Amino acid sequence: MRSLKWIASAACSKVADRRACRVFFPVAVSKQAARKRADALREALREHNHRYYVLDDPSVSDAEYDRLFRELQSIESDYPDLLTDDSPTQRVGARPATQFSSVDHASPMLSLGNCFDDQELQDFDRRVRETLGISSDIAYIGEPKYDGAAVNLSYDGGVLVRGATRGDGRTGEDITSNIRTIRNLPLRLRGRGHPARLEVRGEVVMPRDEFAQLNARLEAAGQKAFVNPRNAAAGSLRQLDPAITADRPLYFYAHGVGVYEGNKPASDYDTMQQLKAWGLPIGSHLTRLDGLDACRDYRASLLQARPGMQVEIDGCVFKVDDEAARQELGFVSRAPRWATAYKFPAEEATTTLLAVEFQVGRTGALTPVARLEPVFVGGATVSNATLHNMDEIARKDVRIGDTVTVRRAGDVIPEVLGPVLSERPDDAQVIQAPRQCPDCGSAVERPEGEAVIRCTGGLVCQAQLREALKHFVSRQALDIDGLGARQIEQFVAEGLLASPVDIFRLNTHRAALLERDGYGEKSVDNLLGAIEASKQTTLARFIYALGIREVGSTTANDLAAHFGELEALQSAARAYADKLAEPAPEDETAAARERRLGESELRQMPNVGPTVAEHIAGFFAEPRNREVVSALLAQGIEWPAPRAASGAQPLKGKTLVLTGSLPDWTRDQAKQRIEAAGGRVTGSVSKKTDYVVAGSDAGSKLEKAERLGVSVIDQSGLQALLEG
Ligand code: IVH
Repeated sequence: MRSLKWIASAACSKVADRRACRVFFPVAVSKQAARKRADALREALREHNHRYYVLDDPSVSDAEYDRLFRELQSIESDYPDLLTDDSPTQRVGARPATQFSSVDHASPMLSLGNCFDDQELQDFDRRVRETLGISSDIAYIGEPKYDGAAVNLSYDGGVLVRGATRGDGRTGEDITSNIRTIRNLPLRLRGRGHPARLEVRGEVVMPRDEFAQLNARLEAAGQKAFVNPRNAAAGSLRQLDPAITADRPLYFYAHGVGVYEGNKPASDYDTMQQLKAWGLPIGSHLTRLDGLDACRDYRASLLQARPGMQVEIDGCVFKVDDEAARQELGFVSRAPRWATAYKFPAEEATTTLLAVEFQVGRTGALTPVARLEPVFVGGATVSNATLHNMDEIARKDVRIGDTVTVRRAGDVIPEVLGPVLSERPDDAQVIQAPRQCPDCGSAVERPEGEAVIRCTGGLVCQAQLREALKHFVSRQALDIDGLGARQIEQFVAEGLLASPVDIFRLNTHRAALLERDGYGEKSVDNLLGAIEASKQTTLARFIYALGIREVGSTTANDLAAHFGELEALQSAARAYADKLAEPAPEDETAAARERRLGESELRQMPNVGPTVAEHIAGFFAEPRNREVVSALLAQGIEWPAPRAASGAQPLKGKTLVLTGSLPDWTRDQAKQRIEAAGGRVTGSVSKKTDYVVAGSDAGSKLEKAERLGVSVIDQSGLQALLEG
C-alpha cells in the first residue's frame, strides 16, 4: 500500500492539474497490477530461457515464448519506469558504442601451464603431491579446454553488471552490452544465497554447425567469412553494435571464479555445482577425478568424444579440487601451480594434393605451396598448405596426385606432413623445382648449403616488390590504413607503385585514383591522409619497414634503441662491411675470424649474430637501397630524436633478478637489454631487488620474491619497463 501511495503522490507532485491526479489513481492501481504481471512474466521468461538454452529441455513452444515476451515488452513500453536492466527484453538494449573502455579485473585472469604427454602429466601430479606433502591420490577436476574467447562476468548481488574480455589478464575491454546478448547466460542469477560480488570466468564459444551457417550468411552478403569458430566468437564479442553480436550464435561456459564475496565452498567442484544451480552454464564434461590414472582415462575418453562435439576443444584442463590446497600451491609467473592444460595433438586429416605452386616472398624466396582438395581440419577448411622447401618435399617424397596428411593447429599455417603411400596413384608426379621465377621469369638460384630457392630478379620482380610493399605498410612497419594487400596488387599492376617511395607520390595521382571503381573523394582523402600521417613514425618502425632480411620487429627495436639515429646504424653497417672485406690473415682460423668480426659494434647487439649482421651490412652496401632510404627521408619521413642519455635509461638504478626461462629471450639477451637500459642484474633475491623477472619453471627465487613482497613481472612486463 505504501509504495502505491508513494507512486501516486510522486506522480501528482509533477502534475499541477488535480484532474490529472484523479485520472492517475486508476492508472496507478492498474500499474500495480502491471508491475505484478511484469514480474511474473520476467520470472517465467527467465525460467523458459534457462530450460531452453542451459538445460536444453524447453517446456513451452516458441510461439508461447514469443507471446509472453511481447506481452512483457508492451507493459514495459507503457510503463517505462517498470523496466529493469536485467529484464529478458533488455538483452539488446544498448546503442552502438564508438569504442570499448578498458576495465581492470578485480583479480588477474591467469594463464595455464601445459603438458603434452603422459610423462609431463605425471610430472605435474608429482610436483603437486610433493608440494602438498601428500603421497595418496589427489582429487582433481577435469574439464575440456574450450577453444573460444575468455571473458570475465561480474555479478553484484546476483545481477550481471559487467562483462569484460581477458585482455592481457590484468586489464580487458568492457563488452557488457555484447555479453548481455548471449542467450544462455543469466542476466540475473537464479535461486538465492548469491555472493555480494561474484566474478565468473569462462569461455564464449560458437558451435561448429552454427559457425558454418554464420559463414554462409556472411559470404552470401558479400562479407568476409571467419577462419574458425574461435575467431568468430572473439570477433563477434568485439562488435561495437550489440545488435550484431545478438545475431551471432554465441554460448558461454563457466570454468571458474575470480572474486567470490561470500561463503565459497571448499571444493571447486562444489563451487561449479553452485554456479550451475544459479543458472550459469557449466560444460557437461566437468568431472571429479581421483588421482593421475583417472585423469589419463578422462583425457582418453574426451579425445574420443571430441570429433562429435559441437564446441571445439583443444585439450583438457586438470585442476586440484581442494581450495586450501590451491592456496598452498600458489602460482608461478602468471599460471597456477594447481592446474595444467593437457593439449590434444594438432588435428590431422587426409586429402588430395592437386598441384604445387611456388610463391615468391619479399626477399625472393620461393616457397612451395600445396593446392589441396578442400578439407575441414583443426577448425577450418584448408585448401592450401605449406610444403616448406624442396628439401622437405624430397624428404617426405610427396607427389602431385598423392593422398596426403595435412595438419593444422591453432593459428599456425597448415602443413603437409606426408603422403599415404598405400594410396599413391600410378601417375603421381614428382614435384620439380622451378628454374625460373614464376612471376618475373628471372633465373632462380639456390645458394650452397641453403634449402631455399631464390628469384634473382630483385627489384625487377613484381612479386618481390608487392611483398616488400605489403611489408612496408604493415601494422608493425609504417602502418598505413587503407593500403592493404588488394590495393597494393592493383597499384603495382597499374604501374602506380614501383618502389616504397611511390607511396608518398600517390597524392600526385589523385585524379587517377578517383577514376577507380569504389574510390570516392572520401576514400581517396582517407588514403592520402593515412599516407601523410604515416610519415611521423619511429626509427624502429622505419628500420623494420625496410625489410632487411632477418630483421624482425624485435631486432629493429633493439637497433633503434641502441643506435638512436639512422646514420649511426648505417655507419656501423659500413664498418661491418669493411671488416668483412678486410684481407684476413692467411692462417686465420674460423674461430679467430669470428672473434675479429664479433668485436664490431653491430655484433654487440642481442639477437645480431653473423648472419643478421651480414644482411644489415649487405642491405646498406647496396646503392639502390641507399637511394630508396634517402628518397624516403626526402619525402619527409621522420621520427622523434633519441631521448637524452638519462631518459633512455628507464631502468637506471634498478636491480633485477632473472629466473626461469622467458618465452622469446635467452637469459643473456634479457640481461643485455636490462643493462642497456641502465639496470643491474643480480643472482639472488633480497629486499633490495626491484623486480624479479619470472619465466616458466621459475624456482626458489620466485618463491623468495613472493615471500619478500618483491614485484614479479614476466617478459611483457619487462618489455614495458624497457620501453619506459
Ligand atoms: S582455467 C587459473 N579451464 O584457457 C586457471 N581455462 O590458458 C585459469 N580455458 O584464457 C583458466 N577452457 O580462458 C580454464 N576449462 C578451462 C578452460 C580454460 C579454456 C582458457 C582460459 C584461458 C586459457 C588459459
